[in-house]
Amino acid sequence: MDYLEIQGGNKLNGTVTIDGAKNAALPLIAATILAKHPITIHNLPPVNDIYTMLKLLENLGATYTYKDKQATIDATTINNTTAIYDIVRKMRASILTLGPLLARFGICEVSLPGGCAIGQRPIDLHLKALEMMGAQIEIKQGYVIAKAPDGLKGATIVFDKITVTGTENIIMAAALAKGESRIINAAKEPEVVQLCEVLQDGGVTIEGIGSDELVIYGTNRELVDMKDFTVIPDRIEAGTYLCAGAITNSAITLKNVNHAHLVSIILKLQEMGYDFDIEKESITIKPASRIKALKISTTEYPGFPTDMQAQFMALSLIAEGTSTIEERLFENRFMHVSELNRMGADITLNNHIATVEGDAKLYGADVMATDLRASSALVLAGLIAKGSTKVHRIYHLDRGYVKLEEKLQKLGAKIKRAKE
Ligand code: EPZ
Repeated sequence: MDYLEIQGGNKLNGTVTIDGAKNAALPLIAATILAKHPITIHNLPPVNDIYTMLKLLENLGATYTYKDKQATIDATTINNTTAIYDIVRKMRASILTLGPLLARFGICEVSLPGGCAIGQRPIDLHLKALEMMGAQIEIKQGYVIAKAPDGLKGATIVFDKITVTGTENIIMAAALAKGESRIINAAKEPEVVQLCEVLQDGGVTIEGIGSDELVIYGTNRELVDMKDFTVIPDRIEAGTYLCAGAITNSAITLKNVNHAHLVSIILKLQEMGYDFDIEKESITIKPASRIKALKISTTEYPGFPTDMQAQFMALSLIAEGTSTIEERLFENRFMHVSELNRMGADITLNNHIATVEGDAKLYGADVMATDLRASSALVLAGLIAKGSTKVHRIYHLDRGYVKLEEKLQKLGAKIKRAKE
């Protein structure tokens, strides 16, 4: 297994290019199941979750080529509708094949994804919504067995909780359903918006894109005339590099960003005292004279993203005073706390609220990555810790960050990948 070794203390400078958004690409790859012909996807980030989703489609009978961040996928050849446990267990987002497979074939079996480090992550809302659309759902030996022999029918779905992949699954199911579907309390993340736009460009009529209420006019099982597309920039990768500039109090520039997707992150950094130059497709963060403590509550888009919670916790360690961070979406997304405390942080937990003492004097240590975003928080802390920090189990990191250590090296960080 690999680990990352970081010597803390360097200032950063220069420019980093942001890659395509993993969480946009995953539903979009699943959506090719609905396509009438092969599709080419540009700006597809070469991270392990993307390889896993491509392997899953291949296992179903699709074919693909993938080179230089461009993939051509032909899902018209799919001849198997069982998403097997061995692939699904590697990546929960495999559940995104459920909606499109059921809509297209009228029957499918998808392994239950199981929980993960940050929480139990149920899919009850996905399944309840599909039943509202006429599916018969059965759970057997760890698999979801879904049937809709006469096809899915349009329905009004009210999500009790806002669910990103739940919304995406139902958008894809509704695209091929018979009649009109209305999704109330839909997720509005930019990744959900791009899925709607790609389906709309393929001839599916969708109203309310970007709002919490979507109306989708299904094609009654006619496949979608999807057009080639380019994946949007990864707002969480961008936020992570903004935190790298902020935690080292350096000036760095990010290219290939859509700053409209970063408003809550930029505002929070401005509140802390950082300054920005914002151009059309680039952002420069500039050092703060004083770094103020912060108060964060994670919430659904466009609020402050849960996927940035761990990174901002690392950043709050250098602020003046005490910060509080409330994690409202997941029941167990504080695994980075014990690792940061081993580096000398003073963070206490009370249920879903973390209290972080600022002006921390961090020292390098061996730390363990536990999930994708926690891993990046440990790397950020390593950039400022005294001495050497080794972040182990970075397979978590490789799921969602393209060449993180190379990008940080180019910015001037002393970081390298090594073998255990
Ligand atoms: C997506 O996960 C993202 N993953 C996550 O990013 C992100 O943290 C999360 O949305 C929240 O923004 C992808 O897009 C592939 P949810 P998802 O369904 O869709 C509860 C990363 O780091 N819930 O929006 O699985 C659930 O337990 C990953 O890139 C139900 O109760 O999250 C959670 O408390 C981590 N029943 C809340 O809703 C359901 O059926 C939000 O979950 C579904 C969800």
